[in-house]
Amino acid sequence: MNADTDMTAAHSPARELRGAGDAVAGHAISCRDIVVRFFSERRSVTAISGLSLDVREGEFLTLLGPSGCGKSTFLRVVADLLSPSSGSITVLGDKPSRARANGDVAFVFQDAALMPWRTVLQNIELPLEIAGKSPRKHRARTMELLDLVGLSGSENAYPNELSGGMRQRVSIARALIGNPRVLLMDEPFGALDEIVRDRLNDEIRRIWKETKLTILFVTHSIYEAAYLGDRVLVLSANPGRVRDIVPVPLPYERTLEARETPEFVSLAARLRRTLETS
Ligand SMILES: Nc1ncnc2c1ncn2[C@@H]1O[C@H](COP(=O)(O)OP(=O)(O)OP(=O)(O)O)[C@@H](O)[C@H]1O
Ligand SMILES: [Mg+2]
Repeated sequence: MNADTDMTAAHSPARELRGAGDAVAGHAISCRDIVVRFFSERRSVTAISGLSLDVREGEFLTLLGPSGCGKSTFLRVVADLLSPSSGSITVLGDKPSRARANGDVAFVFQDAALMPWRTVLQNIELPLEIAGKSPRKHRARTMELLDLVGLSGSENAYPNELSGGMRQRVSIARALIGNPRVLLMDEPFGALDEIVRDRLNDEIRRIWKETKLTILFVTHSIYEAAYLGDRVLVLSANPGRVRDIVPVPLPYERTLEARETPEFVSLAARLRRTLETS
């Protein structure tokens, strides 16, 4: 059975908040005992089992874990693309559906998924058009975002004229056009070479500091998780559950040289050991 099989998660009233043990309002994301099961005619898969977590507003949380442990599934629950089978979750103190309806949550995927016939500017403006807003009226904001992601001057280029790193910058700007408060990033730099990835790691930390967003960032790279995060959430597989939550002992202002410090090296070693037994 693979993730592309047409299976749907069990729908339940789990998103209605209940009594004791409920998700806590006041955090960007708060969840208690989240379980996600997928059912097919032949069998069921428990993708996530009993996940409880609080993410404070403005936190940069990175997620590490073996393939299939439920990282993408968890992001989909936060984005209200999937209902948990049981458990409770709040996003910005309310149901995920409310956060979604308010445009408070945005997603960036590994594949930038730009429309090849639209320019950079037109790609970034697409969510405005979908929301029935006038791109022209929001042009100043679009130009600001182009600047934020380092693409000023490339607004009239087409995706096939851009490098992989530039395409991901466009997809980040497109995610930010609706002024979300929570940004979900699912292996956004996984397909890029190491040098470009390092540069984008610094960029995304700068963007995070400037926007004060809450970021959940999935990666398979121990170094990326440790460098970017305030904390690293390590999940274990079969079924996916919290294995460890590790605070990152690096200063708020970081440069890539921080990866050479003894604190970073021992954090990376701890994450590696945890992953090996997950
Ligand atoms: N729509 C679906 N139907 C059936 N099973 C699914 C579906 N989506 C996910 N799964 C299963 O749930 C489990 C978790 O999948 P998920 O994609 O969340 O893992 P992941 O941690 O993101 O993995 P990767 O690191 O490979 O991206 C896997 O066993 C997967 O096969
Ligand atoms: Mg995934």
